[in-house]
Amino acid sequence: MSTFPEGRLSSVTDASQDELQALQLKRLKWTLDHAYNNVPMYTKKFDDAGVHPSDLQDLSDLSKFPYTTKQDLRDNYPYGTFAVPMEQVVRIHASSGTTGKPTVVGYTKGDIDRWADVVARSIWAAGGSAKDIVHVAYGYGLFTGGLGAHYGAEKLGCTVIPMSGGQTEKQVQLIQDFKPDIIMVTPSYCLNIADEFERQGIDPRTSSLRVGIFGAEPWTNAMRTEIEERMGMDAVDIYGLSEIMGPGVAQEFVSTKDGPTIWEDCFYPEIVDRELLMPIDDGEEGELVFTSLVKEAMPVIRYRTRDLTKLLPGSESVMRRMEKITGRSDDMMIIRGVNVFPTQIEEQILKIDDLSPHYQIEISREGNLDSLTVNVEVRGNDVNDGVRDEAARILQHQVKTIIGVSAEVNVRGVGEVVRSLGKAQRVVDLRQRS
Ligand code: DLL
Repeated sequence: MSTFPEGRLSSVTDASQDELQALQLKRLKWTLDHAYNNVPMYTKKFDDAGVHPSDLQDLSDLSKFPYTTKQDLRDNYPYGTFAVPMEQVVRIHASSGTTGKPTVVGYTKGDIDRWADVVARSIWAAGGSAKDIVHVAYGYGLFTGGLGAHYGAEKLGCTVIPMSGGQTEKQVQLIQDFKPDIIMVTPSYCLNIADEFERQGIDPRTSSLRVGIFGAEPWTNAMRTEIEERMGMDAVDIYGLSEIMGPGVAQEFVSTKDGPTIWEDCFYPEIVDRELLMPIDDGEEGELVFTSLVKEAMPVIRYRTRDLTKLLPGSESVMRRMEKITGRSDDMMIIRGVNVFPTQIEEQILKIDDLSPHYQIEISREGNLDSLTVNVEVRGNDVNDGVRDEAARILQHQVKTIIGVSAEVNVRGVGEVVRSLGKAQRVVDLRQRS
């Protein structure tokens, strides 16, 4: 097998631009060679596009190479994109996807090691150290969240509580008894855990938790404030996707909370225009595209994530940051010609004191027109109808004036909006059913 070339960045915080780019170029050349020589899909893609790995002299030459899409991975289901014999693959994960077959990803022993390294680095950036107890409430299984977080926390030397998702009452009990310092969980499930604390008559701010490392779904800065105030801890953003590795592709520093720093020595980012599919400059919004730099089992060239963001200059490191993801192109709703993301609605909900952050959006069709309904829970049990009606009226008004769409708003009682146990389903599309 073509093994991964040695060499690493001297320091995350002190490495220079030149050092980073030299390492990226070396790893990129290796990755292109490895993919072209060992994955028939890439041999064909490169040949069809008239490019050869030797055409990459400079990092900017990457734009000559073809993209990879989720469909490409599906077409080669389950193992067709692996670049090593199965005997060297030690782990499989898969992302469920809402339609069709899952996307399968594989890891060599070295891949698992390097993945643990980036997650360990992420926990360190979030303020963690070997002294900490880490409660992992991301699901364990085919989803990369649980095991990815677990191996990284162990690599940093932390004490890991492999709780997984679900059993919310028990989550609270173990947090109370085992006294973890850090929780790794989706932000929507964390809110569910906070509710359970309160249901048991415990103020979640009195728990031992100091930091929450939240990801796997879009969440707004307004949600960050909500969680930080309710739980009495720092909330930081971790980003990743199975196709590129899992959690730990990018992580926000607790010292700055200014968007996730992309671990660029391992994952090469580009932003491309969504329609023209041409690379665009840092600072401009488009689709995030990644090329893996350190993966043996399943190298991925220019993978279109469908996540929308922009690249920002590094703050705590020479490595660039990405703006907090506000949505993925798949989640974008087009309501009577206006593009709307669930996070825009979330932002408006969180401005209203009498509404809780538990919400779900329904899209339905009346005649030829799509319509939007926001189901959101009231905050607290002792709120009368007048307050509910007023909250609904304000939200409806804000959604209309700030986002530009008309929405029906139903303010529901506590516990009447479906709770998340992992990734929240923010949008229910009723159009196909009618
Ligand atoms: O969600 C990996 C992960 C696990 C990341 C735990 C962070 C924490 P997938 O299931 O393949 O992998 O889903 C990847 O989730 O393309 C984004 O659309 C979304 N996503 C992940 N992290 C964030 C985040 C895992 N911090 C897809 N903010 C990605 C917004 C995120 N969206």
